[in-house]
Amino acid sequence: MQEIIKKFEALRAEAALGGGPKRIKSQHERGKLTAREAIEVLLDEGSFEELDTFIRHRCNEFGMDEQHISGDGVVSGYGTINGRQVFVFAQDFTVFGGSLSEANATKICKIMDMAMKVGAPVIGLNDSGGARIQEGVASLGGYADIFQRNVMASGVIPQLSAILGPCAGGAVYSPALTDFILMVEDNSYMFVTGPEVVKTVTHEQVTVESLGGAKTHFTKSGVAHFAFPNGMVLLRQLRRLFSFLPSNNREEAPVVNTGDPVDREEKSLDYLIPDDPNQPYDMKELIKKVLDNYDFMETQGGFARNIITGFGRLNGATVGVVANQPLVLAGCLDINSSVKAARFVQFCDCFNIPILTLVDVPGFLPGKQQELGGIIKHGAKLLYAYAECTVPKITIITRKAYGGAYDVMASKHLRGDLNFAWPNAEIAVMGAKGASEIIFRNEIRSAQDPVAKLKEKTDEYSARFANPFVAAQRGFIDDVIRPSQTRWRLIRGFGMLADKSIENPWKKHGNMPL
Ligand code: HXC
Repeated sequence: MQEIIKKFEALRAEAALGGGPKRIKSQHERGKLTAREAIEVLLDEGSFEELDTFIRHRCNEFGMDEQHISGDGVVSGYGTINGRQVFVFAQDFTVFGGSLSEANATKICKIMDMAMKVGAPVIGLNDSGGARIQEGVASLGGYADIFQRNVMASGVIPQLSAILGPCAGGAVYSPALTDFILMVEDNSYMFVTGPEVVKTVTHEQVTVESLGGAKTHFTKSGVAHFAFPNGMVLLRQLRRLFSFLPSNNREEAPVVNTGDPVDREEKSLDYLIPDDPNQPYDMKELIKKVLDNYDFMETQGGFARNIITGFGRLNGATVGVVANQPLVLAGCLDINSSVKAARFVQFCDCFNIPILTLVDVPGFLPGKQQELGGIIKHGAKLLYAYAECTVPKITIITRKAYGGAYDVMASKHLRGDLNFAWPNAEIAVMGAKGASEIIFRNEIRSAQDPVAKLKEKTDEYSARFANPFVAAQRGFIDDVIRPSQTRWRLIRGFGMLADKSIENPWKKHGNMPL
């Protein structure tokens, strides 16, 4: 027996070395962690239980029958993050470049199936040359088996993807089907077709970085929700992201004792809004000042910066924040910001995370580019997401809420549960000057001094509509609140809504305008 145990330990030790010391060294020289090192950083110390350590591929082509490495290029199993169970797989670039074989796809599918059975999140650490070229269609089938599971798990358990190295070809679609993608700057990339193919087909010269690097996906395509300087930072931030999320769609996110007084007043918020309605201010200041310990984890912070999305806590409970950002495009809604916020609202709704919406929106961004780009259908996505969602929703209009954008941004009419406004809020079909130019056109044209007339009419319109009380008189605004007391009112409101329960009519699924 002792001999057998010795042999078994030797086999396990050999498997733990993956592609061997030389390839591990090369991985380190590129500033990358090995699959097992990454898992160690991600999970609580000593909590990882590896499965399928001894799996081998079944390929006999191209000399593969003579090359077997236990585990076959992916490390998989389960463990905990802050004591909460998660399932994890990490592609091992030291073994056949982390390429996906039929055998290692079965490992990934196995932990995904287990995660669904027990209701725990799946975290994928991607670092792979894509489909195992020697295996052909068997490997492609493996990918599709994973895609199918990604879709079935969507909205049931959170799925998080870290991109720690290459991720190319169809391989990008598994991360794309998950809830959040985190990338490493200068050391990871994602693209469907690489620079060589691009050059052949379109004659464009592109670098790996400009085509699919972290900065590209974080700031331009919107594919990546986060970009971090290295793998260690990414994995620690992944733990932080996970702390805001529930384990599955039947649970609520964990409540944390943050120690921040619920009645903390922020006097400075009474001075946040400039006197000039056209002067911007930083909406992030408000977000941080109302959340527990000023702690806000922004998602997609580099993309469509005219809207802000992210997670924080109020009285220890997770909230999802959606907020117009007056500093960028005056906070207008456009195609990218609508899609960004719609996806975020959907995520929160899937996973029982209440939504706080902060509104300062002058309307949809006008222009041919937006119209031809389909702002009608993309803007409708945000409208759809807010209208469909059933989690508690509190909305605060901090300044402008004009036109269709007033409706879209979690208005009372889209089942907003509590809709508050600050005393300076302006809720109208459009800005006072634009409105006066239209409805008083004839009067202004025929005036002796049209400029003075326009000003007079603009002031008249402002006095009538540049306030929250017209909406409050109709009950579209539940209360006008003092900015400095916003945090307290939110905590009281979300507390009141904690047991909210409404259901949408039965359907197979809706038909969001995609
Ligand atoms: C088998 C692979 C592999 C692959 C890399 N390797 N990719 N083995 N299948 N897809 C092996 C290499 O042969 C090498 O083995 C080791 O991994 C490390 O690779 P290097 O090339 O030395 O590393 P590097 O220079 O860093 O380049 C990494 C790379 C490159 C850019 C990822 O390896 C590459 O271009 N690989 C092919 C990428 C690709 O075209 N994949 C298919 C995509 S299509 P040795 O023994 O020398 O160490 C796809 C379809 C999925 O994925 C469809 C799903 C629907």
